[in-house]
Amino acid sequence: AQGYETILTETRGRVALITLNRPQALNALCAQLMTELNDALARFDADPAIGCIVLTGSEKAFAAGADIKELQPTTYPQSYTGDLITPWDGVANRRKPIIAAVAGFALGGGCEVAMMCDFIIAADTAKFGQPEIRLGVMPGAGGTQRLTRLVGKSKAMEMCLTGRMMDAAEAERAGLVSRVVPAAELIAEAMKAAETIASMSLPIVMMTKESVNRSYETTLAEGIRFERRVFQAMFATADQKEGMSAFVDKRKPAFRNG
Ligand code: CAA
Repeated sequence: AQGYETILTETRGRVALITLNRPQALNALCAQLMTELNDALARFDADPAIGCIVLTGSEKAFAAGADIKELQPTTYPQSYTGDLITPWDGVANRRKPIIAAVAGFALGGGCEVAMMCDFIIAADTAKFGQPEIRLGVMPGAGGTQRLTRLVGKSKAMEMCLTGRMMDAAEAERAGLVSRVVPAAELIAEAMKAAETIASMSLPIVMMTKESVNRSYETTLAEGIRFERRVFQAMFATADQKEGMSAFVDKRKPAFRNG
């Protein structure tokens, strides 16, 4: 709709679905794709009609990493001044929830982008890995940090040092993904979760995302303090009154995002 060439976007009710679409390169994350992805995410993030975003790839690949053909001739001065990866932070900096629905390969930057999302639902075909070391580099879009926080040092170190892939079952055991579903049901399951989130009060959803993310950025005491203040502030919303009144009245709440 916006003239994108490397992604597809659609909206279903209050959920936006973004599909990475460079099948010829297993959705390798070239600069154009990342620009388009960031643009679409920013638009949906700013659109009051959208309550949750689902990001997915193809059956074969969520994304096979940064575009190696694009990176291959890059010099150090170019990588420094061009700051190639910093724009990717846009995925992690969005304020509405983003669910990664991963089937097939999520490798290198593909795994990293999935980890920038708020949670990952994996098809039983999903394979996660940080194979950059085999290319003579290391993960450059947060992999050494986010994978370590998600699965612990031992597994993250092994993955980053050997480039070995994790299948969906191992990824679920390790806490990298929230759950595994049959490949044929991946989009339906991710959309169902997204619809559930989008049916909640949007400001409360956004404050909850911000609070959970605080746990990655600060000490426990500061995180608890942040949570306490935000929780207290929620009593200034109409949706708190509505949600609790609906429970007491034994009816469904009608949140008005206020
Ligand atoms: N960049 C550019 N092109 C890629 C690509 C990538 N990351 N991954 C796959 N492709 C291309 C292939 O070159 C191939 O193109 P051609 O048909 O023109 O040759 C096409 O996609 C299909 O790929 P394969 O033929 O290799 O498919 P396969 O099924 O045999 O293998 C695979 C699948 C194991 C995922 C293999 O493609 C692969 O190992 N890809 C690279 C994975 C990788 O190393 N990712 C890390 C990238 S670096 C990075 O991400 C840095 C960072 O941290 C930000």
